[in-house]
Amino acid sequence: MIINLSETNSLVGDWMSEIRDAEVQTDRMRFRRNLERLGEVAAYEISKTLTYVDNEVQTPLGTANCRVIRQQPILATILRAGLALHQGLVNYFDKADHAYISAYRKHNRDGTFEISLEYVSCPPLDEQVLILSDPMLATGASMVKTIDHLVEFGKPAHIHIVTAIACTIGIEYVQRHADANISIWAGDIDDELTAKGYIVPGLGDAGDLAFGTKVQQ
Ligand code: URA
Repeated sequence: MIINLSETNSLVGDWMSEIRDAEVQTDRMRFRRNLERLGEVAAYEISKTLTYVDNEVQTPLGTANCRVIRQQPILATILRAGLALHQGLVNYFDKADHAYISAYRKHNRDGTFEISLEYVSCPPLDEQVLILSDPMLATGASMVKTIDHLVEFGKPAHIHIVTAIACTIGIEYVQRHADANISIWAGDIDDELTAKGYIVPGLGDAGDLAFGTKVQQ
């Protein structure tokens, strides 16, 4: 299932327009906060797909029948670019366990790159609902490599990928290569990738815009 959260008239369109806007992006706090808000909306939409159980609570005046999430999802993100989007998911799924994994593009002299995974911290994933956030689903290579690594911690019942911009090429790559039950929730979807793997029109480098430029490795 692929969901473009900008397709209905909603605040997501406003936030995506600011996230993409080269002038507005210079306000780093607004850039991060918009990603966080997108994470919050994605959390709310994903919550509608989860299962609930009845829960009786005592109020000061009586008994109320409420419905609560049967099983908290696991919230995973790819360091460092995913942190702001992840924070939005954490704001809503505040009781969830977390997983963190670092992935970066290790550039070769000829302009090609490989995805290097280094740090990983993950709870057991067997039969869990995993929500994995990364602001840019570009080629899909780092997403597939991350999923392949995470499933060594157990096979999730379902994986929800949350992203600000997904490229159709990356979506297709994930659908072809990831051996799992997957939904993709995107703030918006673009069709083009540059030779260096940047999404067009996209937004630029999400990690650098949120946290500053880094030394290339
Ligand atoms: N990562 C980014 O930050 N931007 C892109 O366009 C692609 C990958």
